[in-house]
Amino acid sequence: MKVVKKIQSVRRLVKAARKRGKIIGLVPTMGALHTGHISLIKAAKKRCDFIVVSIFVNPTQFGPSEDFQRYPRPVKEDLAICRKNGVDVVFMPSTEEMYPERNMTWVDVEKITEGLCGQFRPGHFRGVATVCAKLFNIVGPDFVFFGQKDAQQAAVIKRMAADLNMPLKIAVCPTVREKSGLAISSRNNYLSEKEKAAAACIYKALEKCREMVSDGITDANQLKKQMKEVFYEEPSISIEYICIVDADTLEPLERVGKRALAAIAVHIGATRLIDNIIIDTGK
Ligand code: PAJ
Repeated sequence: MKVVKKIQSVRRLVKAARKRGKIIGLVPTMGALHTGHISLIKAAKKRCDFIVVSIFVNPTQFGPSEDFQRYPRPVKEDLAICRKNGVDVVFMPSTEEMYPERNMTWVDVEKITEGLCGQFRPGHFRGVATVCAKLFNIVGPDFVFFGQKDAQQAAVIKRMAADLNMPLKIAVCPTVREKSGLAISSRNNYLSEKEKAAAACIYKALEKCREMVSDGITDANQLKKQMKEVFYEEPSISIEYICIVDADTLEPLERVGKRALAAIAVHIGATRLIDNIIIDTGK
């Protein structure tokens, strides 16, 4: 496994792999790798035969009061995980390598960045889309792997790749969860054991929604109200949003039909957590 910090080096390695006929898979991450990230590496290995993992805590997607400084950066452990999972190249650029000058060019995906997390994290998706566009241009992958856990991010990147005619395919992989149902996230490390137990409530609310839909309830307001009630048992959690939207366009739905996304964002202490499920009545 090669670990490189320079754009030129990753380009050279990918070019040589491509010459050998390899299909290139990219897994973009911010490090602090966990089983969610590993599932993306595994999916990449199934579909591709040369795997690049990028590890870059991207400053342009963090708001001024967010956790850029304290975001975990366990480099040694991350590299061990990549090595163990058969990654070919880890690309770990410095901020100066990715943003040598003040950035003047940004990728702004409209509309689908406005709702859900977009309302509460102004500029976040502009930073994500921009860094992903840069990573795609640097690596030149055939396939890029994202997690359903960050549903809006995946939808935004899909739309960016389509709108800008990027010659690659985006694969979205299922959310990996703990036994309690809590979606695995680097930010779970910020939680105390007590907070972690309380956080299981998020998936409970999503499951409640799925149950109600399978019982024939499709009215979005009713579903949202019932999901909200699940949080009454955990006063340490404050709800940021509970939304039911179309899974592809992210437009709010009045009724659940085909491919609806139920999505939740909460705060527990200083930690912000998100999760979602896709519900489909088949109609
Ligand atoms: P990061 O939070 O490190 O996540 C990297 C990828 O792992 C994302 O596609 C995310 O959806 C996926 N992921 C995280 N937790 C997961 C889980 N429990 N199950 C499945 N997949 C999971 O998302 C980012 O980094 C950044 O915004 C990035 C795309 C790298 C751009 O900077």
